Amino acid sequence: MYRLIETMKKLFAGFAFFLSASFLNSQTIQYNQQQKIWALQTDHTTYAVGVNERGELQNLYWGGKLTSPGDLAPAHSVHEWASFDGSPTTTNEEYPGWGGRMYAEPSLKVTLADGVRDLVLKYVDEKHDGNTLQLRCKDINYPLFVTLEYRVYPAEDIIEKRAIIENQTKQVVTLESAQTGVWYLPRDQKYRLTYAAGRWAGEDQLQQQTVEQGAVVLESRRGNTSHQMYPWFALDKNGTATQEHGDVWFGALGWSGNWKIVVEETPMHQVRVTGGYNTFDFSYPLKPGERLETPSYYGGFSAGGFGGASRCLQALEVNEILPDHRNPHPRPVLYNSWEATTFSVNQAGQEVLADKAAKIGVERFVMDDGWFGARNNDHAGLGDWVVNKQKFPNGLQPLIKHVNDLGMDFGLWFEPEMVNPNSDLYRAHPDWVMNFPGRPRSEARNQLVLNLARDDVREYVFHAVDKVISENNIKFIKWDMNRHFSEPGWPEVPIAEQKEIWIKYVQNLYNIIDRLRQKHPGLEIESCSGGGGRVDLGILKRVDEVWTSDNTEAFDRLKIQEGFTYAYTPQIMMAWVTDVPNMNGRSTPLSYRFLVAMQGALGIGSNLNKWSPDDFALATKMIAYYKQIRATVQLGKLYRLLSPRDSNLTANEYVSKDGKQAVLFAFLHSQQFGNVMPNIYLRGLDPNATYKVTRIDKKLNDPHETYTGSYLMNHGVSLKLTGDYDSTSIELQRVE
Ligand code: GLA
Repeated sequence: MYRLIETMKKLFAGFAFFLSASFLNSQTIQYNQQQKIWALQTDHTTYAVGVNERGELQNLYWGGKLTSPGDLAPAHSVHEWASFDGSPTTTNEEYPGWGGRMYAEPSLKVTLADGVRDLVLKYVDEKHDGNTLQLRCKDINYPLFVTLEYRVYPAEDIIEKRAIIENQTKQVVTLESAQTGVWYLPRDQKYRLTYAAGRWAGEDQLQQQTVEQGAVVLESRRGNTSHQMYPWFALDKNGTATQEHGDVWFGALGWSGNWKIVVEETPMHQVRVTGGYNTFDFSYPLKPGERLETPSYYGGFSAGGFGGASRCLQALEVNEILPDHRNPHPRPVLYNSWEATTFSVNQAGQEVLADKAAKIGVERFVMDDGWFGARNNDHAGLGDWVVNKQKFPNGLQPLIKHVNDLGMDFGLWFEPEMVNPNSDLYRAHPDWVMNFPGRPRSEARNQLVLNLARDDVREYVFHAVDKVISENNIKFIKWDMNRHFSEPGWPEVPIAEQKEIWIKYVQNLYNIIDRLRQKHPGLEIESCSGGGGRVDLGILKRVDEVWTSDNTEAFDRLKIQEGFTYAYTPQIMMAWVTDVPNMNGRSTPLSYRFLVAMQGALGIGSNLNKWSPDDFALATKMIAYYKQIRATVQLGKLYRLLSPRDSNLTANEYVSKDGKQAVLFAFLHSQQFGNVMPNIYLRGLDPNATYKVTRIDKKLNDPHETYTGSYLMNHGVSLKLTGDYDSTSIELQRVE
């Protein structure tokens, strides 16, 4: 009886919450005006913010869904523990300015021209509309405003945050830290941090560590997103989450320049994750009337382990972020000439490769580096985006026509942000590179970085790329960036503004790509930076795919691709089949290389002139199979069944959105002691449905033509994988 009364009370409390504000509420943003609580509701999560008695915005909750947010108590600042750990630093302020007694990582730090370096933000007003909420704060004295903008993605269980900082004072306000915000994790738990770190040709290696008191900084200071770390984190409770079980909080930044994520456990054991522009070498003066928007910071929660968390982010990218999100479509099978020809491109040679590529089912032919200026090696030519007449006496059109006549579209490589000192562009404009006068200009791969923050450089780059695309039937560009910033000087602007280069560079990069896309509807772009050096949710709004890694060695790729899919969708994960021996001196069978690459967006980078008839026959069969399953691989749900990090056997399964098709890929590293393989348990199927199996080889031991979902998930499938680098795939079609 007592429990019944309590339940009724709770129900009533929830009802009252809705009632009191029902006319103000949309489904996803529920506002209790009296209690000043905003509850951002996704299908399975709640994120709640309130206003405390000091008038500060205070984070109240982030985690599994509260069906009745009315259960939450109004915001109330934390009591004073000691003069050393006062309430202003122990209260979970939603967007803390550095001011007063705030000692944790601030979201915003400023210096005003009058010398004041104290910022205390209080709530002013709110606006909400559909899935968007804006909470405005203001400093206690100055008309310095911050608008916190939230967008709710209900189906993906993700909240997007952005901060807009506006200087309405009459003096310059210099921003010294401009973060998008902070995510607070539920208190009194230990957390394990997972992130992806790496380097050129070794991207996306998963790292895990327990969060202890202190701070872990994930960042790039290199000018672009970098291979060194991806702007993504995941935290699970007590280190207990597995692929498909356990609570995981995660977040990702959308910024392609210097970024920083600070994972911090405070002295009071509050875990908080601040993210935004990197504070390193950061200084951004806002003149009266100016504003700065911070990058988007996406955060989500999944009770379905790391797999569930990844599927949330992958769904967000496919449904909301990527340029084709309104009509997601699988990427075509691509051929790229780089590993076959490097800089030695010419019309006849490319046509021979194109003929062979078309025969095996390739849909897009891409000519890589070497087609422009004096580009015979990496010492010259970058910056001169005019067709090399020795290699292509009649321009690119005859080659493009040849490719189009074979039924493929044509793509071209650019590296627009760079210049070789040995180029016409540099000879004409040595001042266009970032530099400090009188200081060295450090070269990497014999090239310097153009100062894209300059508007004249931005216009040059836009028009140079636009001209080539306008004059030729180019459907795709691979946009490369093969080095990081050095000596990031911008001597033409006042000293106080020179550090804006970190931000303005990226804004202008975005501007160029956005304008190119607008002017050339249907143009697709791949983001490459010596492999996966520029992959983040900011660039993904404007490119269709990314080059995952310059390391195409298939066994290494299993780990790189695994790490990649923790944050990013297989739809954008370009994966090529290339020749062996490859990196590490390793040789794996062609079928293994195909199956590894078929787990993302498939490309071929081999020298087709060296392939045997058997290689062509296998490639034709594999590409035909890939075309049957690629919509599921690229747009479906990914289940990482067995990890290459902790198993001799790697297995991944993809299930189509409508549940009608599933695909399993399995890879054996090396068999030992004659051990037979353990069964592989599938996931995400309907236990009561029947699935018809299609085999590509004879490696499935289970003999029948059809199986129930319950068999496939509970009994598992038995595979005959033997020796070294064996692999297989099966396709399942739901029949009833
Ligand atoms: C980078 C890319 C490669 C290739 C070369 C061309 O290294 O990652 O795929 O395009 O540049 O110079």
